[in-house]
Amino acid sequence: MGFPRGRELVLGVGAGIAAYKSCDLLRRLQERGFLITVVPTPSSLHFVGKATWEALSHRPVISELWSDVAKVPHIEIGKRADLVVIAPATADLIARIASGRADDLLTSVVISTKAPVILIPAMHPEMWQNPATVSNVEVLRERGIFVMDPDVGRLTGEDVGVGRFPESSKIIDFVEASYGRRADLIGARFLITGGGTREPIDPVRYIGNRSSGRQAHEIAERAALRGAQVTLIMGPNSLPDIEGITSVSVETAEEMGDALQHHQGQCDVLVMTAAVADARPVVREDRKIKKDQLGAILLEENPDLLQRAAGRRSPGQILVGFAAETEPAEVDLIRLGSEKLARKGVDLLYVNDVSAGAVFGSDETSGFLLDKSGVIESFTAVSKRQMADRLLDAISERISHE
Ligand code: CTP
Repeated sequence: MGFPRGRELVLGVGAGIAAYKSCDLLRRLQERGFLITVVPTPSSLHFVGKATWEALSHRPVISELWSDVAKVPHIEIGKRADLVVIAPATADLIARIASGRADDLLTSVVISTKAPVILIPAMHPEMWQNPATVSNVEVLRERGIFVMDPDVGRLTGEDVGVGRFPESSKIIDFVEASYGRRADLIGARFLITGGGTREPIDPVRYIGNRSSGRQAHEIAERAALRGAQVTLIMGPNSLPDIEGITSVSVETAEEMGDALQHHQGQCDVLVMTAAVADARPVVREDRKIKKDQLGAILLEENPDLLQRAAGRRSPGQILVGFAAETEPAEVDLIRLGSEKLARKGVDLLYVNDVSAGAVFGSDETSGFLLDKSGVIESFTAVSKRQMADRLLDAISERISHE
C-alpha cells in the first residue's frame, strides 16, 4: 500500500547523533509524496543545523517556542499535520513526551496534535534498556503512540548492541504499517449507536438489557483514531468520554430514534451497535406501581430503528447492523445472521454469540462478520477492540470502492 500524496508530515528531530541519518529519511519521505516541516529540538541543532533542515525541506525551521509567537506555531503545526514522525527519539525526548512535558516546540506539537505520532528511538543499549526508558516506552504505546524497536548493531564509538537507528527503508515500512491503518478513514463521517435503551415502567423501574456499550465505544474510539469524524449515540453507560467525538446521550428507543433521524443525513457510515429494547410499556405510570399490580404490565413493540434507517438511507451510505443470538450451533448463527442482514437491508452484520452470558459487559466477543455473500470473518474470543479494527477494515474497503 502506498501513501496518499500531499500529506503533511512533521519530522521531529531529537538530540542524537543519528540526526544526520534523518536527513536521508527526510528525502525518502519526500519521495513518497509527503510535505515535510522539520521541528528539531534546540539541542539537536548541535548535530544537524537549521540551515540543513531548511535547505532539505524547503521550509522555514523553528525549534523554540519563542519564535514566531504571533502565529501560535505549536498549535498550527500540530493541527496541519497528518502525521508526526520523530527520528531519532532520544531517551530524554521519550521521557519528556511520556510525562506530558511541553517545554520546547516539538514536545508542544506532540501534546497538541491529533495526528498519529511515530517514534524512532536511537540511543545506547544502556539507555534503551534502562527501566525508566522501558516504562516510558510502555506508557507511550498504551497511549496509542507508535514506537519502533531500534536495530541491533554498531553504535557510535566501539560499542555494539540494541539501540541503532534503523535504515530509512525499514523506518518507512514501519511508518507505512502504522499510518496506513490509522488514517484510512480521514473525512468519513460515522454515526454509531451503542448501549441498551431503557423503557420506563414508572418513575423507578424500567425495561432494559445487559448491553454495556463497550463494543460501540471501541468502534467509535478506533474510527476516530483512524481519522473519522464520529458521532456516538449512547444509552445509559458508565464508559469514559472519548476526546474529539460528538456524544449524544439517550435513554429510550424513541429518543434514540429521534437522534438517529436528526444525524443520519450527515453520515457516510451508520453502525447500529445498540441493543434497542424490543418492547416498551404502553403506559408510563407517573407514580410507582404497587407490587400487587406488577403482574400485568402491558407492552407494545418498539419500532425497528435500523430498518427505518435503512428505509431513508442516502445513496452510498453504508449500514452496519449487529445481532445478538443465543443459538447453540454455528450454522444457525450464520443462517439467522444472514436472514437478518437481508431483512434489515444492511451491508454488514456482526452476529454475536451471546449465550451463557458471554459478550455483554465483557471485553471479549465471539461471532461472525457477514455481508450478503456470507461470512467475511469469524471471531473467537477476541477483544472488542480487535473486532472493532476488523470491522473498520471492512468498512474502509467499502468506502474506497465507492
Ligand atoms: N434494532 C433496532 N431497533 C430495534 C431492534 C433492533 O434498530 N427495535 C437493531 C439493533 O441495533 C441491531 C439489529 O437491529 O443492529 C439487530 O437487533 P436484534 O434485536 O438482534 O434484531 P431483531 O429484529 O429484534 O430480531 P429478533 O427477532 O431476533 O429479536
